[in-house]
Amino acid sequence: MKVFKNYIIWLFFITLWAGCASKSPNIKSPLTITSPSNNIKIGFNLKPDGTPVYWVNHKGKAVIDTSVLGFELKDQKALQNGFKILGKDTTRFSETWKMPWGEQAKVLNSYRQLVVKLEEKEAPKRRLNIYFRAYDDGIGFRYEFLASNKESNKSENQQVIITEENTQFKLTADHTCWWIPGDWDSYEHLYNTTKFSEIDAISKRKSAGLMQTTIMTNAVNTPVKMRTAEGLHLSFHEANLTDYAGMTLKVDPKNLSMKSALVSSKRTGYAVKRTLPFKTPWRTIQISEKAGDLIASKLILNLNEPNKLGDVKWFKPKKYVGIWWEMHLGKSSWDKKSGKHGATTKNAKAFIDFAAKNNITGLLVEGWNTGWEDWLGKEREGVFDFVTPYPDYDLKEVVRYAKEKGVEVIMHHETSAAPRTYEKQLDSAYTLMNNLGIKSVKTGYVGMILPKGEYHHGQWMVNHYRKVLTTAAKYNIAINAHEPIKATGIRRTYPNAIAREGVRGQEFNAWASDGGNKPDHTTIVPFTRGLAGPIDFTPGVFNIKLEPYKDKNQINTTLAKQLALYVVIYSPIQMACDLIEHYGDHPALQFIRDVGVDWEQSKVLDAAIGDYITVVRQQKGTDKWFLGSVTDENARDLKASLAFLKEGTQYVATVYKDGKEAHWDKNPTDYAIEKFIVNNKTTIDLKLAAGGGTAISFIPATQQDIKDIKPYSGK
Ligand code: NOJ
Ligand code: CA
Repeated sequence: MKVFKNYIIWLFFITLWAGCASKSPNIKSPLTITSPSNNIKIGFNLKPDGTPVYWVNHKGKAVIDTSVLGFELKDQKALQNGFKILGKDTTRFSETWKMPWGEQAKVLNSYRQLVVKLEEKEAPKRRLNIYFRAYDDGIGFRYEFLASNKESNKSENQQVIITEENTQFKLTADHTCWWIPGDWDSYEHLYNTTKFSEIDAISKRKSAGLMQTTIMTNAVNTPVKMRTAEGLHLSFHEANLTDYAGMTLKVDPKNLSMKSALVSSKRTGYAVKRTLPFKTPWRTIQISEKAGDLIASKLILNLNEPNKLGDVKWFKPKKYVGIWWEMHLGKSSWDKKSGKHGATTKNAKAFIDFAAKNNITGLLVEGWNTGWEDWLGKEREGVFDFVTPYPDYDLKEVVRYAKEKGVEVIMHHETSAAPRTYEKQLDSAYTLMNNLGIKSVKTGYVGMILPKGEYHHGQWMVNHYRKVLTTAAKYNIAINAHEPIKATGIRRTYPNAIAREGVRGQEFNAWASDGGNKPDHTTIVPFTRGLAGPIDFTPGVFNIKLEPYKDKNQINTTLAKQLALYVVIYSPIQMACDLIEHYGDHPALQFIRDVGVDWEQSKVLDAAIGDYITVVRQQKGTDKWFLGSVTDENARDLKASLAFLKEGTQYVATVYKDGKEAHWDKNPTDYAIEKFIVNNKTTIDLKLAAGGGTAISFIPATQQDIKDIKPYSGK
């Protein structure tokens, strides 16, 4: 892979504090670092008792008040106070790196870094470094645990066991927050919108989706998004979650403060065990004046290491269909015992024919391998082997037929949360995929983790998900994980991490007892879960009322909004999830045929979290653009300036919009399609129905188009 890199690193010395810290442990002036534009400033100091503290300013105003840093350890005194400063380093870094696939072709990574080197004043004089990075779109910091340099303490295997991390985030006011509870097993929750002081995450929800989960009281999962009274946007998350426990944030409503609360194993009684030296994940705060700039921020990716896999052209971003929605509707089933097995050779071929006709190059088949009779049973270890198809599914023949039609089969591995069984099978499962030429797999972890006492988001599982990713990479296989660990930018380092779930996706609309995702859900997701990374949300339902399969559930959007989601929610794999018979040759299917999945650039034109969002993306290597705009339960008239289009080029804009009578509940399938000639001087009116949306393709016009199609007049 040609990596476009242009970077400079230089060291410079701050005269503020002239290297006397080792003599004077309680420094008078703080250490500070500012972002390249000087908008964002991080300060560090030690309290009189030697406790490390930091704070963050944006344009001279406090964003994070003085907040403490530290750890509680097993069999050791807490790493919390009694420190002196041994030294510090300040560096400046700037590079532009290329995404192999993504929401944009190039990413600027530009920051200033301050490393503070600490040592305890008293024995055992443990050392801790803290790395602070100031970017123009936020900050990150991480801890480095160092091995003891005392000869007497030196052993081959110096280990540390962390029972809790005490990283504090002290807010400056009672901000508005968009949050999900601090669930140790699942991120599949609806977002709550409350004041910080009103966050009441209590273990009231006993299950998320198809499984039982473990919800902690008064904690939230990240990313958690906030807006200050002045309109500043903040998002708290983590980057490069490697060999460590996932971080939830414990809320202290009275003191307007949050503190890290690590997912801890009940089996071992601790959160993290590591050999020294090691670095923790980055703790991140994205900061922007416009809501849309949070989505443009690539801070989480920038805090991860560069691509370790090199060329991943074997993975091609794609649209896909699947033997999937029919199981969630109950039309067919994963297992055979029910007598309505979905994964048959015949059914797969029908989907392949449909895909081939509609510019869709992937086919997911769930329920293809034996074991589904017992997948939610008590004994889940050894239930699946990932190589044995049901007798009515001729895997080889399906793959052959798909290839002939230019379609790639996407493998499915439901582990039923028995990762040890899966790890034993990785090589045989991936060898089979290699032999068949299958390049990607959707994995799943439904159920409480086996062994008991481990959680989806703990260190043990973080390491399992990584093992799957790196093993798959050796076989040139890409992973789309469901019931995953949250995305923390690992796709930069391992670009075979193509997408994941970790959200209340489309499937909830088929069966959730609360009636499914609310109309505002997808106006919040891009600013929360979406900031972490690509989402396998699976849009594209045309049979909105789910008849005749479901009488209590429906999709709570209009049909046009289903189309808009292909642009609003980013993923390099986008499913057209509905049944073939519901698409038929529906005119709106043209948008799904046309829409891109890999992008040169992406822009948020306009957004208010929880209300609406309008996104445009330019398809990689083309002059085609696509627009998606979605609203919550309120109808809205928005405007979109097309200034992003190429100067001097005329485009055919095909507008897929809500019909005059459209309403997510009363009339969700009322839609209209219109064509206009537009250019970069045009401003288009978007009329979104309640729970509705608009999708537009902009394709450079031919001379004939210009003759045949009228220019946009706004009427
Ligand atoms: C949960 C996944 O999210 C869903 O997409 C899948 O169909 C089931 N697990 C079965 O694996
Ligand atoms: Ca799921």
